[in-house]
Amino acid sequence: MSHQDNRFEIAHLARAELLTPVPEKTEWFFTELLGMYVTKREGQSVYLRSYEDPYQWSLKITEAPSAGLGHLGVRTTSAAALDRRADALKADSVNLSWGENEFGYGKTLHFQTPDGHGVSAFWEVEKYVAPPALQSKILTRPSRKPLKGVPVKRLDHINLMASDITPVRRSFERHLGYRTTESVLNGNVEVGAWMTTNLLGHEIATMRDSTGARGRLHHLAFFYGSLQHNTDAAEMFREYDIEIEVGPDIHGITQGAFLYVMEPGGNRIELFGNTGILHLDPDADTKVWDFNDFDVGLAIGGAKLPPTYFTYGTGGTLSAEAQADLSRLASV
Ligand SMILES: [Fe+2]
Repeated sequence: MSHQDNRFEIAHLARAELLTPVPEKTEWFFTELLGMYVTKREGQSVYLRSYEDPYQWSLKITEAPSAGLGHLGVRTTSAAALDRRADALKADSVNLSWGENEFGYGKTLHFQTPDGHGVSAFWEVEKYVAPPALQSKILTRPSRKPLKGVPVKRLDHINLMASDITPVRRSFERHLGYRTTESVLNGNVEVGAWMTTNLLGHEIATMRDSTGARGRLHHLAFFYGSLQHNTDAAEMFREYDIEIEVGPDIHGITQGAFLYVMEPGGNRIELFGNTGILHLDPDADTKVWDFNDFDVGLAIGGAKLPPTYFTYGTGGTLSAEAQADLSRLASV
């Protein structure tokens, strides 16, 4: 199967697991401010879904010593597509394992990106069926819009920091059939790539981690699809002491309307206030931005992204240099 033929093997980003040292506060952020429903509690984890997420959960919050990404999960377009993706990983000698131990999901393939992010892929899912009290009158909506905070509709995308993004991008392209819609070059070093398998501008992005750390999370994004909701959410976050990093504004890259905040556990969360560009052209070229001239790429409205945007991430493994820096600071 050629790379072109791999294109429709992954349907979409279905779920992600966030680690947090303050699980009750993180749960409060997602349920009370973003209106997500809890569907199950088990051990040190709680499972949540937004009102238009189709399956039992799109977000798993797990208590851990520090913040970070547990894993991201993508749904294939068929059972055969899942087997073909496993074959593609095996052909490149990528370590993989199979499991069937997550609430609401069946047979699942587990592996890591070349930078160490956990990835799961699956076909079998348990569709969410709302109890009568939560049923929506809008038939395409799996549950009623909640009366809490400014509720998000669904999981949208994830952005992974990587010590070297090129092998991460290549793995998503070669093994899972993603196409790269936009990228950023600094000289001849790739510093950003935005990837999709469907019409959305991106579902997976990866950006260079300038600290040299491996496998960190940059952000997890949830969908509003309305610019006004990003403004409403910004007001809510100010009122309830949630740190806003930057926004609302619109990235030139993906044309995505952004608002970045830190949930109480420390993970960066993005609220996505429009649909962004849709990729209807199946063989469009990758659009390449120049890192040294991409103010428009960062923010069409001129918002200045703070230095933390390029250096702060959660989880992963720090480089030896970064660890030495931290121990120097600790000994001062
Ligand atoms: Fe994003």
